[in-house]
Amino acid sequence: MKTTVLTLKEQKQKGDKITMLTAYDYSTAKIMDEAGIECLLVGDSLGMVMLGYDSTIPVTMADMLHHTKAVARGAKNALVVADMPFMSYQVSAEDAVRNAGRLMQEGGAQAVKLEGGREVCGQISAITRASIPVMAHLGLTPQSVNALGGYKVQAREAEAAHGLLLDALAVEEAGAFALVLECIPAKLAEWISRRLSIPTIGIGAGAGCDGQVLVYQDMLALYSDMCPKFVRRFADAGEVMRQGFRGYIDEVKAGSFPTEEHSFKMPDEVLSQVEEMSKAGKY
Ligand code: KIV
Repeated sequence: MKTTVLTLKEQKQKGDKITMLTAYDYSTAKIMDEAGIECLLVGDSLGMVMLGYDSTIPVTMADMLHHTKAVARGAKNALVVADMPFMSYQVSAEDAVRNAGRLMQEGGAQAVKLEGGREVCGQISAITRASIPVMAHLGLTPQSVNALGGYKVQAREAEAAHGLLLDALAVEEAGAFALVLECIPAKLAEWISRRLSIPTIGIGAGAGCDGQVLVYQDMLALYSDMCPKFVRRFADAGEVMRQGFRGYIDEVKAGSFPTEEHSFKMPDEVLSQVEEMSKAGKY
């Protein structure tokens, strides 16, 4: 059954935890969908884990559309949420609606996500008025890394924590259907989750959120440039891949791959005919 924004609302009401992972390509999205993941986030984190930038700032609408299309083709049941990249929604509500519309219409997403609180509520209302579901994102918002002074835990002090609550209530009021809480103290995330009627999805925000999201390269040990404290490595796919690549290199060098099993056959007489043709100077 396809997950929808209503499914997530019901999950919160029932206390059934929401599962979300990032995905950026067809094959991985298909495997995650088959495994039963409920939401796939085409995160602008693709700038770092797929494209090798040192932040999400350089990610463009073209990048997001390219990867969203691939994920949407692989996701049969999971809800596909596409991140709105830096500067695709900050300047005006008009820009925001147009770009959100492209991620839905051209990309095949079923919802969009954008970062920020009270300052982007105009955009959230405008996008939702266009019948596009919006997931909000508060706490450590990576597109603001330069303003925040690095990738740091947010809202540890009372004033900042209160500001975060006001932002959370404001994005809910503006029409967001869910809220990502990134890198904030677990107690605060749990308290905010209880205050909201929309589901919260945490990353580095403890177990009290209504769901969890991780960047899949982090939880499979596929990305080693940084490893945040909140990540658990559920499998070492990086090592499995390294072993596979080494095995391939060794066997090609040794001549033990490919074998007959991986080769196509041709009757000997056909090759003899080709030899004759060649001798006769036909080719
Ligand atoms: O871009 C992303 O992957 C995200 C998650 C970290 C929530 O926004």
